[in-house]
Amino acid sequence: MTEKAMQVIITRSSVRAFLDRPVSDETVEQLLRAAMAAPSAKNQQPWAFVVIRDRDELEKLGSALPNAKMTATAPVAVAICGVLDKALPGEAHDYWIQDAAAATENFLLAAHAFGLGAVWTGVHPISGRIAILKETLRLPEGVEPFCQIPFGWPAEPGSVKNKWDPAAIHCDVW
Ligand SMILES: Cc1cc2nc3c(=O)[nH]c(=O)nc-3n(C[C@H](O)[C@H](O)[C@H](O)COP(=O)(O)O)c2cc1C
Repeated sequence: MTEKAMQVIITRSSVRAFLDRPVSDETVEQLLRAAMAAPSAKNQQPWAFVVIRDRDELEKLGSALPNAKMTATAPVAVAICGVLDKALPGEAHDYWIQDAAAATENFLLAAHAFGLGAVWTGVHPISGRIAILKETLRLPEGVEPFCQIPFGWPAEPGSVKNKWDPAAIHCDVW
């Protein structure tokens, strides 16, 4: 179990090219279960997910978002959003961003565990991208797009990077 979990975490990498092969609803549900299992501040779970399968919509996003062109050729994508009225009040409000990031990483790891390829494409806090997602997905007031993940069966293996850096570790004090 530990070895398998470590293997999934260490071998994940971004995949930006997909086969023309569908991903089942059952598999997508498993990935969303993983995303929703993420930790969140005070367990508020201030998130919502838009699963995008419509070809025109995927192509529209791919052409409107230069950073996420690969969305146009993915069989499916998910937009991970923050639901602001579920976020904590006051100074802790922006924890929703970290909550959404935790859900995103869980989603990516689960996708990799299923043999799927996926890539986190950044939306929040870039206003132009936020506007495109809000308009295309018709997000209601108070729902903030955090990121968008095109995913599918990989057309090529991702490039796994060795990021282990002992110099980034400090002991007791900096
Ligand atoms: C906040 C964030 C935003 C990102 N935005 C994009 C993006 O817009 N387009 C893209 O192709 N990759 C994007 N990525 C993926 C990174 O480029 C990728 O994770 C990084 O190069 C490390 O590669 P790896 O995921 O293969 O380990 C983003 C990743 C993060 C965490």
